[in-house]
Amino acid sequence: MKILVIGGGGREHAIIMKLSESERVEKLYCTPGNGGISKYAECFDVSATDIEGVVALSQKLGVDMVVVAPDDPLVMGMVDALREKGFKTFGPTAAAAIIEGSKVFSKELMKKYNIPTADCRVFTDSTSAIEYIKQADSYPAVIKADGLALGKGVVIAQNEEEAVKAVKEMIDGGKFGKSGSRIVIEEYLTGPEVSVLAFTDGKTVKPMISSMDHKRALDGDKGLNTGGMGTVSPNPYYTDEVAKECMEKIFLPTINAMNAEGRTFEGCLYFGLMLTPRGPKVIEYNCRFGDPETQVVLPMLQTDLCEIFEAIYEHRLADIDIKWKSGCCACVIMASGGYPEAYPKGLEISGLDDNGQVEGAVVYHAGTKLSDGKFLTNGGRVLGISCTAFTLEEALKRSYEAVKKINWDNVHYRRDIGQRALKAYVDPLSLDYKDDMEDYIESNGVYLRQ
Ligand code: AMP
Ligand code: GLY
Repeated sequence: MKILVIGGGGREHAIIMKLSESERVEKLYCTPGNGGISKYAECFDVSATDIEGVVALSQKLGVDMVVVAPDDPLVMGMVDALREKGFKTFGPTAAAAIIEGSKVFSKELMKKYNIPTADCRVFTDSTSAIEYIKQADSYPAVIKADGLALGKGVVIAQNEEEAVKAVKEMIDGGKFGKSGSRIVIEEYLTGPEVSVLAFTDGKTVKPMISSMDHKRALDGDKGLNTGGMGTVSPNPYYTDEVAKECMEKIFLPTINAMNAEGRTFEGCLYFGLMLTPRGPKVIEYNCRFGDPETQVVLPMLQTDLCEIFEAIYEHRLADIDIKWKSGCCACVIMASGGYPEAYPKGLEISGLDDNGQVEGAVVYHAGTKLSDGKFLTNGGRVLGISCTAFTLEEALKRSYEAVKKINWDNVHYRRDIGQRALKAYVDPLSLDYKDDMEDYIESNGVYLRQ
């Protein structure tokens, strides 16, 4: 098969490397791709949001399948446009991608179908939103822009001043453009977070191995929210018991709800979960593979990814046995100094080769550019260094060994990726959410995976 992947980050690099292992794959293309991806796939300069351009490129290349990885083109209907022209695609239609494209839609869906999530109210004018905040007088307050906002549309306000500022910026100030003209104010939840990516063809749902993201920019979960600074897999909090509960109360009900709404979801559905004292709840849905979750999940996949994509397209996911490697995977993101705010581009990266020069380590490129044979920085998140090993400790040790061989001016990475997960394996009740976890374990009668 000749496959075109849309996107150009670490997630797409991981998808492409996994597809390149498949005997069914003859040729890989990517647009726009990046410096690292260009070693595995022929890259083009059609933007990931240029629907007409992507359809034309697919026709020109005569591809057998198109994999649409990022949120924007999915929400904009790229899959619909490709299907109209007869292309096999991986990814949801616009009608289904709205599960990520509108928080108001997803909150209403969960309410209607009794899927556990934080209680919320929706507002379109700042006066009533501020009135509600003052009346509730409960902090932290969680304020979310309705639409896509590059993972930055959520504010956890610690007091009235911060909450009022966030509401005004979103609704009146147009901080996120149209995405912020409607907002959701929701109940603050506590507990460990788990990311679960799931393959689904609309009939069957097959969750992948679980993972844990590290969203804040700085060590100790300090600093601004980012797209994700590192991940580990599996997530120690996601025990078999929790998985079973999530399947019954969240995953299947969500697939069924989307079918009932005439919005059948096909592709990868991402469940952002919080394990609260009252059981697992949905924090967010994404209509795609997570980044950098994919960089720790796909390295653990044993089954041919191309075969899974085809089975989803042909609605026969139930017939496929998806196998995972045993062990753990860790990914440390190396970012430009300054990210997620302003940062320079075009800095030369040293010490880079394809495998990070450490056994088991893989370097996924996120924001790089290949220029005269040299790799230059070209984005906020620049590289993701993933390593699989028998234990999480070993995976982390080797990822960081590889990280230390790579450098550029003012490089930034977190030093504590996986520390929380490591502690959870050793002593689950030593964590910040000690009280929550005690309640959770007591009320659910479950314990952490060994
Ligand atoms: P989201 O973009 O919806 O995933 O939110 C980003 C991050 O904000 C999540 O990963 C959580 O850490 C936090 N968050 C979102 N919603 C809530 C909530 N209702 N209660 C507590 N934290 C939340
Ligand atoms: N890592 C979170 C996301 O992909 O949205």
